[in-house]
Amino acid sequence: MAAHALLNIAVRAARNAGEIIVRSMNRLESLQVTSKGRNDFVTEVDKAAEAEIIGHIRKLYPKHSFLAEESGEIPGDDRETVWIIDPLDGTTNFLHGFPVFSVSIACQIRGKLEHAVVYDPMRQEIFSASRGSGAHLDNHRIRVSKQRGLEGALIGTGFPYRANMQHIDAYMAMMRAVMEHTSGLRRPGSAALDLAYVAAGRTDAFWEIGLKPWDTAAGTLLIQEAGGRVGTLTGAPYTQGGNVLAGSPKAYDALVELLAPHITERLRDA
Ligand code: IPD
Ligand code: CA
Ligand code: CA
Repeated sequence: MAAHALLNIAVRAARNAGEIIVRSMNRLESLQVTSKGRNDFVTEVDKAAEAEIIGHIRKLYPKHSFLAEESGEIPGDDRETVWIIDPLDGTTNFLHGFPVFSVSIACQIRGKLEHAVVYDPMRQEIFSASRGSGAHLDNHRIRVSKQRGLEGALIGTGFPYRANMQHIDAYMAMMRAVMEHTSGLRRPGSAALDLAYVAAGRTDAFWEIGLKPWDTAAGTLLIQEAGGRVGTLTGAPYTQGGNVLAGSPKAYDALVELLAPHITERLRDA
């Protein structure tokens, strides 16, 4: 695969961040952890990984802009090129030594997602995509599953927490419907990786309430380039951040239909 220069940079930055994360795993007890709120933590590792990614990109492209979880918006001279970064997606897992987390980097140019990388540093798997060039896992082309509907499907999700606990009753009803109509439900704990798994056909669909642009930007392009669909819970166009539903085209349609009776007014297209 002849990769674009910007994609190569994202891959290198993600690998560097992954190395920082993995090296820090043998000193979990001594890590500085700050609570951003209930069930929401940031560690010095999130910050170090983010600084590494931004520093790496800036060395080569000093004018680019950033939207990164820990630093927020960093406008550069070039406002049209924005890197959307989650340096460590799955911090709760990481803090427990539960080995499921990822680094997520997307490059958006003039409002369009152009390049994406999700890196799983434990398995050393690189999921990558550039607009129009398909999605890849390492050097192999990946596609969403051929799943025809929900029967026999494996579905990923994320549980609501923090402010999203207001939707817990609706969420539990959705969960029940999915458990009743599919082969299984998984909550791995890294939304970016969950989306990459849909792109790779490891799960057939995914949904979660209340995500942020850095959780979903890279995963969105991966899925689109792998032939899948990404939208809101009602199947409306998704604009990074909020409630997301993704899947192979057929599983996507079927999940939109299955969840429909449980979408409250507050959840609709949020
Ligand atoms: C979280 C993970 C998790 C999802 C949460 C996210 P973080 O990101 O993606 O799977 O359920 O909604 O906030 O905080 O570990 O970067
Ligand atoms: Ca995240
Ligand atoms: Ca994070």
